[in-house]
Amino acid sequence: MHILIVGTGYVGLVTAACLSEMGHHVVCLDIDAKKIANLKGGILPIYEPGLKELVDRNSRAGRLTFTTNYAEAICQCSICFIAVPTPSNQDGSCNLEFVMAAAAEIARHMDGHKIIVNKSTVPVGTATLVKEAIQAVLDKRSSNLSFDVVSNPEFLKEGCAINDCMKPDRIILGIESAKAAKIMRELYSAFTINHDRIFVMDTVSAEMTKYAANAMLALRISFMNELSHLCEKTGANIKQVRVGIGSDQRIGYQFLYAGAGYGGSCFPKDIRALIAMGKENEIEMPILNAVEEINERQKKSLSKKILSYFSSQGGVKDKTIAIWGLSFKPDTDDIREAPALTLIEDLLAEGAAIRAYDPVATLNALKHFGNRIEFCKDEYDTAIDADAIVLITEWKQFRHIDFSKIIPHLKQKVFFDGRNQYQLSEMQSLGIHYFGIGTPSSVEDLSLIVNRLQTQIPDCGNICAVSN
Ligand SMILES: NC(=O)c1ccc[n+]([C@@H]2O[C@H](COP(=O)([O-])OP(=O)(O)OC[C@H]3O[C@@H](n4cnc5c(N)ncnc54)[C@H](O)[C@@H]3O)[C@@H](O)[C@H]2O)c1
Repeated sequence: MHILIVGTGYVGLVTAACLSEMGHHVVCLDIDAKKIANLKGGILPIYEPGLKELVDRNSRAGRLTFTTNYAEAICQCSICFIAVPTPSNQDGSCNLEFVMAAAAEIARHMDGHKIIVNKSTVPVGTATLVKEAIQAVLDKRSSNLSFDVVSNPEFLKEGCAINDCMKPDRIILGIESAKAAKIMRELYSAFTINHDRIFVMDTVSAEMTKYAANAMLALRISFMNELSHLCEKTGANIKQVRVGIGSDQRIGYQFLYAGAGYGGSCFPKDIRALIAMGKENEIEMPILNAVEEINERQKKSLSKKILSYFSSQGGVKDKTIAIWGLSFKPDTDDIREAPALTLIEDLLAEGAAIRAYDPVATLNALKHFGNRIEFCKDEYDTAIDADAIVLITEWKQFRHIDFSKIIPHLKQKVFFDGRNQYQLSEMQSLGIHYFGIGTPSSVEDLSLIVNRLQTQIPDCGNICAVSN
């Protein structure tokens, strides 16, 4: 099939690469001329494991091409995907300006029947808006061309987007016409050979499914983050609690990690958009409001912990803090709404000097921070003269660090683990003062908690043993 993908970012480029890998002919279109020129020269605008190989292979085979020209691209294609940004408006609602602009351009240039497939995450009812907008342009053109609008939300995860796209858990299709459903099923048939994972539904349910999925995942994260604070106060260990509840098959282990808060280009804006949809429809959304509030608090909790630790030393002014990781999660260069940004801004505001490293997100972080922070060549380099190390993105390479190479360079042996990658005991054996999220920070802390419990329950006596 001949396919046009409008928007060549994380979703558009990955979708294009995977569809072309399956033998379809795909044209990628973007309004960013520099991005398209780079892609034509084999330079990718994003980091995504395995993407470069797919793009190179399919470009060489002539199945994947790049353009900025709607007129030229659209006449070759029967299916037009829209994969453009849907950022937040000031009030948290979803900004549809890019989606509507792309739809209008498609309508202006279409020359025959087209299936217009929306992959962007959009509020419920957008398929109808897109349909009306396209029809309005066609009316202006005095054209009687026919078209279908399909809602096909994307569920890929940055960092394993190729795998998610090639082996999707499900393909959600909001479709009104049987003809379009047949073509879309055929388009995706190669991705569901093993067993059918295509769910056809109405467009509004498809649009809602995407928001519901992200909201559910964000909810699990915020739930664990909320509990993590109680764990810290009571001496419980959130990592053990996770294992304890995750083993219940009704709950499962996924997305039950306490940490520095969720970020990225999807969860924060999608939760805000869903809350805004509730407001618009006069439906209160107390759970989602709490999910967002807890996350905002969590993104600040690490800097609070660091400031509290250094308060006895006059705060972090002139202290050097090493930051491990800048992207919002591992295996991506995406720093949109990354917890690392909030943390670093908080520390900079208090006068700290930052030495940061990320395996792939440095360029994006450099655009954001400029020379306000120092970028280092690796995690070992960040530690030179550092008063504390903060792990904020759980890149695999941060898991097995040779601390004997780091410790001699540290000014103070303090480690804040924003992703609970290490154990208190192993850090204590290295003489490092360790702080996790929702985990005991030291045996002394635990003793204090046990003492408090003993005073509350006079008969507690020897039952309250200190362990970690
Ligand atoms: N990034 C993810 O992990 C992910 C996952 C699922 C869904 N989504 C959703 O997919 C959509 C796209 O997200 P993304 O992360 O790929 O965005 P992105 O910012 O990485 O890429 C979007 C691209 O669209 C281009 N663009 C904007 N307006 C255009 C227009 N009128 N014509 C042509 N190109 C245009 C931009 O130049 C940019 O290259 C969003 O709605 C997002 O919520 C994203």
